[in-house]
Amino acid sequence: MALDWSKLSFNYTKTNTIICSHFKDGEWSSLESSTSDQITINALSGALHYGLEAFEGLKAYRGADGKVRLFRPEENARRLRRSGAYIGLEAPSDTMFIEACCRVVKENIEYLPPYESGATMYIRPFIIGVGGQIGVHLSGESMFIVAAMPIGSYFGKGFEPSRAVLASEHDRAAPMGTGSYKLGGNYAGTVLAGEIAKRQGYSTVLYPDSAERRYVDEFSSANFFGIKGDTYITPESPSILPSITNKSLLELAPTLGLKTERRELLIEELSGFDEMGAVGTAVVISPIGRVDVKPGWEREGGCEAEIIKSYFAGESLAAGAVSLKLYNALTGIQNGTEKDIFNWCLTI
Ligand code: PLP
Ligand code: COI
Repeated sequence: MALDWSKLSFNYTKTNTIICSHFKDGEWSSLESSTSDQITINALSGALHYGLEAFEGLKAYRGADGKVRLFRPEENARRLRRSGAYIGLEAPSDTMFIEACCRVVKENIEYLPPYESGATMYIRPFIIGVGGQIGVHLSGESMFIVAAMPIGSYFGKGFEPSRAVLASEHDRAAPMGTGSYKLGGNYAGTVLAGEIAKRQGYSTVLYPDSAERRYVDEFSSANFFGIKGDTYITPESPSILPSITNKSLLELAPTLGLKTERRELLIEELSGFDEMGAVGTAVVISPIGRVDVKPGWEREGGCEAEIIKSYFAGESLAAGAVSLKLYNALTGIQNGTEKDIFNWCLTI
């Protein structure tokens, strides 16, 4: 295996093993490693027909001190159970979840990029409803699988600011729908739009709330934050994913002398930000230098749609100083170069 860490993007790489367990008749089977990344399930599985799937995303970091760390894995375990419960899928306990994550990292350790590379290992735990069913009902049988792979920058831009476009003719999540759960179905409705946005030069799509389209919700795969003076501001909404990275920044920001606000955020307020960004496991902290409002961009030929407004966050050519400070503090804890004052990391 000869991987060039500098060429990694956020793409799938097959590694040595995936870890699997089967829930049937009220019991989980013991965790097993499989060298194949293929699984055999019933063609009539609820996961394939009715979207009975929930997933997580976390990373393993090889520290400057050579140690391998996971970041707050118990938070991912808890969130997977919350997502699973919403669609009636059994999810593993914290202990089982963390054991599977540690095991997948150990069994694929040569795929964990070195500290200096800036790349990391992405861990994808997920649960699926399996077993044949044709009615729209709960699935009594599920599988828990964890895969791990080396990955690079999510937007392909590292820490350089990129542009986002506001969703204009489609929604990600309904006000009382599934937006706050990490269910595969939430992402299905965003993939085509994400692709069209990329063709038009945007790294991602920013979703307004779907009830009134007046407030900022979140990006398709990350939370939103803005910096105004010395305040870190992030939206409060019932339809956004409770990001573990964002929650961590809200705890970390005061230790860096910043104030924090979590509240409803009017789209119009984007004009008052000094810095903006996307925050999440995959994106880490990715600066967003500009958000365009461009009605109809999702339609065929949408690249000709007129930009009716752009929100700029300071100078879009370089990442802002506050975002950089937050990035260094967060990644420092994850890489072991900063003191883990909150005891967030689990060393494997
Ligand atoms: N929002 C969405 C829609 C996401 O897919 C993610 C990624 O997990 C996040 C936010 C960030 O959450 P976290 O920081 O827990 O990875
Ligand atoms: C993550 O940040 O872990 C995500 O799940 C984002 C994405 C790849 C869907």
